[in-house]
Amino acid sequence: MVRQGAGPEVTNSHSPILREVPPAAPDWKRRHVLDLDDFSRDEIEMVLDTAEAMREILGREIRRVPSLRGVTVVTLFYEASTRPRASFELAGKILGADVINLSAGGSSVEKGETLVDTVRTLQAIGADVVVMRHSSSGAPYLAARDLDAAIVNAGDGLHAHPTQALLDIFTLRSHLGDLRGKRIAIVGDVLHSRVARSDLWGLAAVGADVVLCGPPTLLPAVYLRPEGDRDRAKLPHARVELDLNRALQGADVVMTLRLQAERQRGGLLPSLREYSRLYEITEARLTRAAPNALVMHPGPMNEGVEIAPAVAHGSQSLVEEQVKNGVAIRMALLYLLSSRRPPAPAPKVKAAMLADR
Ligand code: CP
Repeated sequence: MVRQGAGPEVTNSHSPILREVPPAAPDWKRRHVLDLDDFSRDEIEMVLDTAEAMREILGREIRRVPSLRGVTVVTLFYEASTRPRASFELAGKILGADVINLSAGGSSVEKGETLVDTVRTLQAIGADVVVMRHSSSGAPYLAARDLDAAIVNAGDGLHAHPTQALLDIFTLRSHLGDLRGKRIAIVGDVLHSRVARSDLWGLAAVGADVVLCGPPTLLPAVYLRPEGDRDRAKLPHARVELDLNRALQGADVVMTLRLQAERQRGGLLPSLREYSRLYEITEARLTRAAPNALVMHPGPMNEGVEIAPAVAHGSQSLVEEQVKNGVAIRMALLYLLSSRRPPAPAPKVKAAMLADR
């Protein structure tokens, strides 16, 4: 088990490469990471504590440990990505894994191979961990159903992006410590945001107080219903505030979301100009939040639409730190999943959270 608040244990002091390999994590029971909806607070803390040890490795002169030597990690991306794709590859390489990168273009998917056959093929060639991004909600659950390889969801449709949520919570814990009772305003296109959904589950598990804000057409309908109705939907608790100034009032953290321009064509927004007039996080609006409130964005950003450039790159912004911490979190997940190899019951395919819309 990685010791809380301390660097990894020294296991071999003779070799500069072999020293300080993170020790095993016997308490880790999970076979896949598909979403945070069934993560306990303790499990999230275990990932964050392991990431803390990984961050120490990232600060060394030689960023290499052999913890995952002999482990094969495949990144399988059916959708564009910069951050998760690059950071999973780097995470695997720093830990000594063999890393294979595949995208739908240029693979046999172009010849019509199914998702399950593709993942079975990867398992047959020895993949231990498959990191997957897919435009269809639920695709990683399908892949995880009959396979021994560990599946990590790097974003599926509108549904979930658990590794982004873990790196967000890790970044916030580094600045704020215990997140219980901390006020987090999530602003923007919550409806189409898999990041927001996973953050909601994760932030609820660690006890944060979340306020959702955006145009009603871009908020999940279930959050616009009375609180009792929401409880029955078994969704994480969050308050809704349609007025941005009220949502920002006293917030410790302002998390803005990418406005997906394609939504405007779907008739959900009158115009981008109208959106930014009402919901863009500007320096003036940020003064409504708590003094020195932290600003986050999962990226990629539309500067001048959901976030002003001065805020995106200002002293309160954690955007670059989020990206940096993504490597430590993904190292931690690859490490923990590789430490737990025996089979466990396969997950049920889960309906997307917005099925009622
Ligand atoms: N935050 C995130 O997942 O972004 P990209 O995949 O677009 O890099």
